[in-house]
Amino acid sequence: MTNNHLQFANIDTIELGKKYGTPLYVYDVNEIRDHARAFVDTFKELGVNFQVAYASKAFSTVAMLQVAKQEGLSLDVVSQGELHTALKAGFPAERIHMHGNNKSIEELEMALQHQIGCIVVDNFYEIELLKHLTEQYNQNISILLRVTPGIEAHTHDYILTGQEDSKFGFDLSNGQADKALLQVLEDERIHVAGIHCHIGSQIFETTGFVMAVQKLFQAMNQWNLQYHYTPEVLNLGGGFGIRYTEEDEPKPHGHYVEALVSEVKKQANDFELPIPELWIEPGRAIVGEAGITLYTIGSIKDIPDVRTYVSVNGGMTDNIRPALYNAKYDAVVANKMNEPATKTVSIAGKCCESGDMLIWDLKVPESIEPGDTLAVFSTGAYGYSMSNHYNRFPKSAVVFIEDGKEKLVVQRESYEELTRLDLSYE
Ligand code: LLP
Repeated sequence: MTNNHLQFANIDTIELGKKYGTPLYVYDVNEIRDHARAFVDTFKELGVNFQVAYASKAFSTVAMLQVAKQEGLSLDVVSQGELHTALKAGFPAERIHMHGNNKSIEELEMALQHQIGCIVVDNFYEIELLKHLTEQYNQNISILLRVTPGIEAHTHDYILTGQEDSKFGFDLSNGQADKALLQVLEDERIHVAGIHCHIGSQIFETTGFVMAVQKLFQAMNQWNLQYHYTPEVLNLGGGFGIRYTEEDEPKPHGHYVEALVSEVKKQANDFELPIPELWIEPGRAIVGEAGITLYTIGSIKDIPDVRTYVSVNGGMTDNIRPALYNAKYDAVVANKMNEPATKTVSIAGKCCESGDMLIWDLKVPESIEPGDTLAVFSTGAYGYSMSNHYNRFPKSAVVFIEDGKEKLVVQRESYEELTRLDLSYE
């Protein structure tokens, strides 16, 4: 261990890079568990019935889903691939919830066959398919109805819209949700366990969540009066914000849970409705800050008085978020931690595309040079899961660290594996 090396989860990151190669995703599993427990423990303290479903889209691998299973989380999957990964990880089917705005017959069949916990029903076509399939297989299924409450929440602000312009769910304001509810209630094989909404992602304030609870309770009250239907489950989705750079100021996880629970109790009391079981679906908040990516620095192009481009051996293939959303990240030169960061450079990916920039205007040591290691922070969510094969870059490896011990949990893809599905044309 050298004292000018970045230590991550008590392991020397330069040694990790040497051993497993770069780009490399590295996760602190103790931190993943801490994030999960922060949500779970707050619910327990507040004494309500709950499920914390990890949104596996944020980072889905067998090892990760095993950690989620060990922590007693439930799981949100949105595809056959995510469901397959969950089953391969030995995740209990009854704790799996399936999402999606265009679930295929095969996906719904797989969900029924494995008797997963519930399907979050999104649209009228899906209701039709479900009615048909539950009859065909003579099987019952629990569902939540996904509704759009007309609240769009973003990092700092939230927007109230009468009718939401979204591809997801049934609109509460124009009678679609009522129509959907009546269609599922009339089917004896479909158990309508409750309702679901998801108002957005990377949200810092609790206001949007509280407004969503209010909107949902208005609907619940109306449904109770009109149709004598009271949901047992209220799923408020995910979206709890994390720190990517020092500009981000998320609240502790428990703070969001407290705000939700307190508003649910208040609304239940005001409307004289029972307190429903509360479900949430955090993805980013569980894995985002627990992951970093290690890269090796290569070419450095200095344009005097304009900019210095420092290229790394990855980019939009392993982290598409900067190119796609203009997402901001922070990073350090991991083998020069004792040198002051006084030089401003921009970190470029190696894809053949000008937009493949990871970080603009990062402060690094003056001595930055080819062969150095760059460590980018908070890459644990939507990095590996949105990675791609652009320019035929193989997918990077993933290492987990727990209690000071490291373990390879996803192997680096080889070129043979990269081309294994290609068939010859001669
Ligand atoms: N539940 C539902 C229904 C969702 O649609 C999502 C995210 C989540 C839960 C989890 O949200 P989280 O807690 O991770 O914010 N690729 C984008 C994020 C897309 C999120 C889509 N849905 C990104 O990299 O920022």
